Amino acid sequence: RQQPLVLGIESSCDETGVGIVRGTALLTNTVSSSMDEHVRFGGVIPEIASRAHLDAFVPTLQESLHEAGVTLDEIDAIAVTSGPGLAGALMVGVCAAKALAVATGKPLYAINHLVAHVGVGLLDERRTPDGKPDAGAAAGLGAGKLPENLGALLVSGGHTEILRIQSITDDVELLGSTIDDAAGEAYDKVARILGLGYPGGPAIDKLARQGNPKSIRFPRGLTQPKYMGTAEDKGPHRYDWSFSGLKTAVARCVEQFEARGEEVPVADIAAAFQEAVVDVISSKAVLACKEHGITDVLLGGGVAANSRLRELTGQRCASAGIKLHVPPLDLCTDNGAMVAALGAQLIMAGIGPSGIGFAPDSSMP
Ligand code: KG4
Ligand code: ZN
Repeated sequence: RQQPLVLGIESSCDETGVGIVRGTALLTNTVSSSMDEHVRFGGVIPEIASRAHLDAFVPTLQESLHEAGVTLDEIDAIAVTSGPGLAGALMVGVCAAKALAVATGKPLYAINHLVAHVGVGLLDERRTPDGKPDAGAAAGLGAGKLPENLGALLVSGGHTEILRIQSITDDVELLGSTIDDAAGEAYDKVARILGLGYPGGPAIDKLARQGNPKSIRFPRGLTQPKYMGTAEDKGPHRYDWSFSGLKTAVARCVEQFEARGEEVPVADIAAAFQEAVVDVISSKAVLACKEHGITDVLLGGGVAANSRLRELTGQRCASAGIKLHVPPLDLCTDNGAMVAALGAQLIMAGIGPSGIGFAPDSSMP
């Protein structure tokens, strides 16, 4: 089949997403988030997320079908995130997808969430419900074809990874990742220390503009020579990140101001923290790309919204001769369209469905 009509389902964290694509064209991307219910706890509560997926799934599916102007009957295949993510949350989407597949007889594809973040880059146009090209840009890495030497930098509340993509359907290599907290998680924890609420990323991003990023020098994790090594003799964590020490350093810094009875310079700390995160993310990502002949990088995940990350990564990529692609934000954060996009790629590559026997895998590599 040339242009399969694929329904994608995402439920790995707090977003219930249903997206529909036709080949590389995006028809709809409907997302319902349970973030509001997690705010008072200062973090995503898995049990609450799972229950919210149960409540939101059917309405989200109906809205998505309605917006795309298609019926379940017309869908060629169903794709669903099977990992990594929160086990209970994944279970809801996977069970819903299996039920749909059994009820309709449509083929079902199990999708790796991280690869789907890259697959979204293949969506080259966005259509309005009546089928006309939409003014809103799609991810647009090229007419349904990924660049040959592609990397992906995924930065969110759940992941911080640099990937090399030789083939979206069967050759994705993890070059580096965080060894502790994800970058978005570090933003959220530091925002909590600074009393800025949850989720913390947007608040720190905003406040940092009023602060001096050079006022305090926070540590850049895993940058010492014993971790980095050299280009010839690579250290054990050359392309990896660590953010838990940074979070501790911020907490100590706040304590010191308080112990001296001084006012805590919240904006300066926010700016200096953000600079430390963004500096180490962009420098290691660009290094990994340079050393692997990567010429194009796709940015994904909720932290892709960060103004300083976009700016500094953009500058460093440009000086290294690497092209940085930043999809529209609704395609960077977790959504069903990315799952559908990767499902469509698998079908177009002639890869068969997963069947319904698979189990969700919360720690899928
Ligand atoms: O991709 P996402 O919506 O959900 C997952 O984590 O899977 O990402 C959410 C994360 C949160 O940690 C949030 O604080 C962070 O992205 N975030 C930001 C910004 N906007 C959202 N971090 C830094 N700067 C931002 N502007
Ligand atoms: Zn994600």
